[in-house]
Amino acid sequence: MQELKEAINIRYASEASCCSSLSCGGAYELAKVKEGEIFLDLGSGRGQDVLKAAKDVGRNGIAYGVDFTKEMVNVAENTRKKLKIENAKFFESEIENLPFSENVFDVIISNCTINHSKDKPKVFSEIYRVLKPKGRVIISDVLAVEKLPEEVVNDPVAWAGCYGGAIPQEEYFEAIAKAGFLNIEILEESTPYKKGDVMVKSLTIKIQK
Ligand SMILES: C[S@@+](CC[C@H](N)C(=O)[O-])C[C@H]1O[C@@H](n2cnc3c(N)ncnc32)[C@H](O)[C@@H]1O
Repeated sequence: MQELKEAINIRYASEASCCSSLSCGGAYELAKVKEGEIFLDLGSGRGQDVLKAAKDVGRNGIAYGVDFTKEMVNVAENTRKKLKIENAKFFESEIENLPFSENVFDVIISNCTINHSKDKPKVFSEIYRVLKPKGRVIISDVLAVEKLPEEVVNDPVAWAGCYGGAIPQEEYFEAIAKAGFLNIEILEESTPYKKGDVMVKSLTIKIQK
């Protein structure tokens, strides 16, 4: 776990100050964030979606971002200060242990992050815990077309590259259902594509508490 976290951190520390896209779907746009809402982004990276949300929720709402890479949180926080945005806040934290109490958020998004987690069931149960009843969650992520071979699953570089931790849709949806979510709606699905030597796809889903 530590080796994996280090590989992901090293990759994202170097990505923090560059401008290539790290997303794998249109989670933010599809979340249709509204005035007054309390918003959370899991794996907020350089903070773009949180800062967009801060504008969309307005003065009566608030936007939070969580990321475990210090450099990402620093870049996001510096941008926030430069743009003088008061209703956004970034936390350096793991998405497996969220620093929030129960039933806080109206809307949660995550873009290309949950594939990195070694404990996806815990991530989904944390999402369920902090989401308000009737709250919505929009997730864009990378999924494996078939169960990945052991050598890929054990390769920290593949995990950091957004595919080593990818699991098949059935397993992903089972973890969501176990957390307590009843319906999973598919909003976007790519055709399968190659990452390293394996086939994956990008999926954007909506779930509600
Ligand atoms: C591919 S980037 C996506 C960033 C952002 N969501 C975007 O779309 O630009 C993944 C981000 O998730 C963070 N991350 C990966 N695993 C995490 C975990 N277990 N807990 C918290 N953050 C994590 C990384 O540090 C990185 O900033």
